Amino acid sequence: MKEELLSYLRCPVTLQPLSLRVFSKCIKKFDGIDVEIIDEGVLIGDVFCYPIIKGIPRLLVEAFVDYEDFLKKNLDDFAERKQQILNKHNTIVASVIKKNSHTKKSFANEWNLFNYETDTTWNADKTEMLARFLREVDETKESLKGKIILDAGCGNGLLNNLIANEGAKILGFDFSLSIEKAFEKNTNPNAWFVQADVQFPPVLNDAFDIVHCSGVLIHTNNTEYSFSCLVPFVKRKGKLSVWLYHPRKDFIHNTFNFLRKYSSKLPLKLQYYLYLFFLFPPTFIIKKIKGNPQNKREMMIDILDWMTPEFRWEHTHDEAASWFVKRSFTDVRVTTNEVFGFNIIGKKA
Ligand SMILES: C[S@@+](CC[C@H](N)C(=O)[O-])C[C@H]1O[C@@H](n2cnc3c(N)ncnc32)[C@H](O)[C@@H]1O
Repeated sequence: MKEELLSYLRCPVTLQPLSLRVFSKCIKKFDGIDVEIIDEGVLIGDVFCYPIIKGIPRLLVEAFVDYEDFLKKNLDDFAERKQQILNKHNTIVASVIKKNSHTKKSFANEWNLFNYETDTTWNADKTEMLARFLREVDETKESLKGKIILDAGCGNGLLNNLIANEGAKILGFDFSLSIEKAFEKNTNPNAWFVQADVQFPPVLNDAFDIVHCSGVLIHTNNTEYSFSCLVPFVKRKGKLSVWLYHPRKDFIHNTFNFLRKYSSKLPLKLQYYLYLFFLFPPTFIIKKIKGNPQNKREMMIDILDWMTPEFRWEHTHDEAASWFVKRSFTDVRVTTNEVFGFNIIGKKA
């Protein structure tokens, strides 16, 4: 973590500023230049505490449970703090653990397959990824310069690096451990990474020119509620951009959706082998016949992305537009419309 990031970070529950205690620093190479960053530390709020581990602030509400060993070892008053959190916020803590635990693991497994050296992200190489993002948010390389962007649910983090290379500052967060590889592979000092939940964004209000959230809200327990959690962080006249699945009238698509209703409840390891042996072979043959250039890993990531998350909602364009309008956004429009989903943006009034 670079110290500069602290001014953008807030306690995800209370939205109050956090104080920083540094345990150790290390050197990270950004574009070949050595930069000193905070490797381990803790961010302290009025009650909650959030560790910084492997250079990444872990700003999940449940971080004190997920990283209990680290906090116990490094924070003298951790036992009292833990008790205070449980006394004051037990219901919030129990609900985030319940809603997040399956999805955090399913996406960590999915991104674990991703090979940064050889694989494309959703069929796009780096040039196409950036071009697609620019179409989605309706910006140009030039207009990105100097902007401050929030990427909620950044996945493998590759896009963040590309956006920072165009002169923007971008804070990407994701609640799965994919954030560790995203941080490790990033080479731009203006792409920052945090572990966080889209329903509890741990950032400063009204701070971002663009808040982008691609393929994430539809994997939460309530898409519109998660959408509403992002609204406060968009600057006045800033842009909110979300990519969502839409319903399809397609027999195979709807059969997959029917299957996943049941199979997504199975243990993740079992699901992996089930899909590998039964879904992957026909998918591979059909995709190859259709001339799809994806490699085997990319195809398997697509299958896991569809089948393993606990939630996978589909929404019509009008429904999504109404979420913006209800919250007084203007210039609401669909910017990209693809087979599986669409991107929609609006300007904060
Ligand atoms: C389909 S991937 C999309 C990733 C990236 N935005 C992209 O377009 O490549 C969905 C991502 O959302 C993340 N995610 C799902 N629910 C989340 C939540 N409640 N908070 C933060 N991230 C979440 C997952 O961990 C996963 O990396």
